[in-house]
Amino acid sequence: MSTSGTDRTKNAKLLAWVDEIAALVKPNEVYWCDGSEEEYDRMCQLLVDGGTFIKLNPEKRPNSYLARSHPSDVARVEERTFICSENEVDAGPTNNWMAPAEMRGILKERFDGCMKGRTMYVIPFSMGPLGSPIAYIGVQITDSPYVVVNQRIMTRMGQQVLDTLGDDDFIPCVHSVGAPLEPGQADVPWPCEGDISNKYIVHYPETREIWSYGSGYGGNALLGKKCLALRIACTMARDEGWLAEHMLILGLESPEGEKTYVAAAFPSACGKTNLAMIVPPEGFEGWKAWTVGDDIAWIKPGPDGTLRAINPEYGFFGVCPGTAYDSNPMAMETLKKGNCIFTNTVLTDDGDVWWEGMDGPPPAHGIDWKGNDWTPDSETPGAHPNSRFTAPAGQCPTIDPSWEDPAGVPISAFLFGGRLSKTFPLVYESFDWNHGVFMASTMGSEATAAAIGQAAMRRDPFAMLPFMGYHMGDYWKHWLSFGNRSDLKLPKIFRTNWFRKDADGKFIWPGYGENMRVLKWVVDRVRGRVDAAESPFGLMPKHEDITWTGLEFTRDQFLSITDINKDGATAEAEEIKGHFAKFGDRLPPELEDERQKFADRVGKAPDVWSLAG
Ligand code: OXD
Ligand code: MN
Repeated sequence: MSTSGTDRTKNAKLLAWVDEIAALVKPNEVYWCDGSEEEYDRMCQLLVDGGTFIKLNPEKRPNSYLARSHPSDVARVEERTFICSENEVDAGPTNNWMAPAEMRGILKERFDGCMKGRTMYVIPFSMGPLGSPIAYIGVQITDSPYVVVNQRIMTRMGQQVLDTLGDDDFIPCVHSVGAPLEPGQADVPWPCEGDISNKYIVHYPETREIWSYGSGYGGNALLGKKCLALRIACTMARDEGWLAEHMLILGLESPEGEKTYVAAAFPSACGKTNLAMIVPPEGFEGWKAWTVGDDIAWIKPGPDGTLRAINPEYGFFGVCPGTAYDSNPMAMETLKKGNCIFTNTVLTDDGDVWWEGMDGPPPAHGIDWKGNDWTPDSETPGAHPNSRFTAPAGQCPTIDPSWEDPAGVPISAFLFGGRLSKTFPLVYESFDWNHGVFMASTMGSEATAAAIGQAAMRRDPFAMLPFMGYHMGDYWKHWLSFGNRSDLKLPKIFRTNWFRKDADGKFIWPGYGENMRVLKWVVDRVRGRVDAAESPFGLMPKHEDITWTGLEFTRDQFLSITDINKDGATAEAEEIKGHFAKFGDRLPPELEDERQKFADRVGKAPDVWSLAG
């Protein structure tokens, strides 16, 4: 067994750490990834030979592969995700916690010999453009070649990262699928730990370490994404005065060439990827929308006081079902260019992929995500609802020319949204910074059928609930602290809700590309071009300040998605009390102040507040 990486790096800490982990996990061999195309092709072939990958029809999907996971290993395991801070209280009420010493004991046992019979891969990766002052470097150890090839799409990885790292510090990430092989034991296409209670996704925020055991899937295994870029990074951001957020980044360019960047946070199932790749509709001739990122934003104050954002990722890890030319043509075009990995979709008889919600009729026959024959008459979906594509971001036709600018792009507005069928207007702007933080700390989506009987809304503050690396109350305090910094040019803050329904339960707002009409109003507000109407929730657009050309949407319809029902708003102010109570003495008093101001405004409002007056 060779553990030597001395021909690849002189970083003593890195070399010692790799040796230390190898001694623990006892692999057959250690392999340092160089990130080359030759290496990628070789590893994909290895995955084809081992039955993990199926090569897709190169005429339809050039250089693309399909993987089927073990049926038990299909999503992030939030109940097995831990924030192991020294003190339990610092993890906060929204996280699972275990004492670091106890967790280290458990993991030592789990990882001891866990890579027997396998290769241990060392993946140096950069979150963000190499050398950017906003970027950080991590090194992931894994025994999964599936993870290696996905990481090559999702991050900048390989030798150039080691060269950039030099002797500097890095964030260590250890991952194992948790399936050692005895001598002579045959491997399976998707090795993983079958018992969910033996899976561990562990973060040590104080020492900035990540350990993941038992899953080969997505956010559990590609440790640069949710584990590093959100849970560990948000802790670093708190300590260092910046923001690591679960946000897309979008650039909006006017026909005159004026460019305005917004960053937006939405809980899952709100069309975040669609908004990141929005195509301006009829009536917006000459406008362009540019994609910088679809999931994560790292935002640091620049020398001029603007907040500068980078997308720390290099690819998209998007949900397949529902992705179609109708909903997201730019995602479909990105995938069409090839070089993608699909996981848990249908395989069609002509070697293509398919999923529910794709344009056109379903194939008459295919192989479903579990590897069984499937037809449109089958009782179960062909693609898993959380089936995914891994695609190079650079292939997106609307990728922003500045998406790799190491200085980041200047953010002028933050948008926070949820999926709410009533009470919440289409869009409103905060009165000031603290009010904006209040709006984001109380956001959420309506509970699904599975949770009926509980609160009407599932709160997902800042869309960070599953990705918070410390106490949520302290995180709000961190956000509030930006409001006190006179050196900063702070973005405006907005809440959006595309999902109001009529009496028949139908969505009123057309959404998708038409959301550009709301974005244009946001740009006009940022640029100080329009004034706004004061409502109990915040500042709202007047009908005449929205561009309606090309859309049949009446003034009455607009009024019906912007009016505010006093009973609903009163209930919201009351519910927030219970939400805030969970954060105890770490709830910043400014937010309870904002809640009371909101309740007062609602108390003074008519039974139905309307823009019609
Ligand atoms: C994701 C998520 O996969 O937010 O991006 O769950
Ligand atoms: Mn996400």
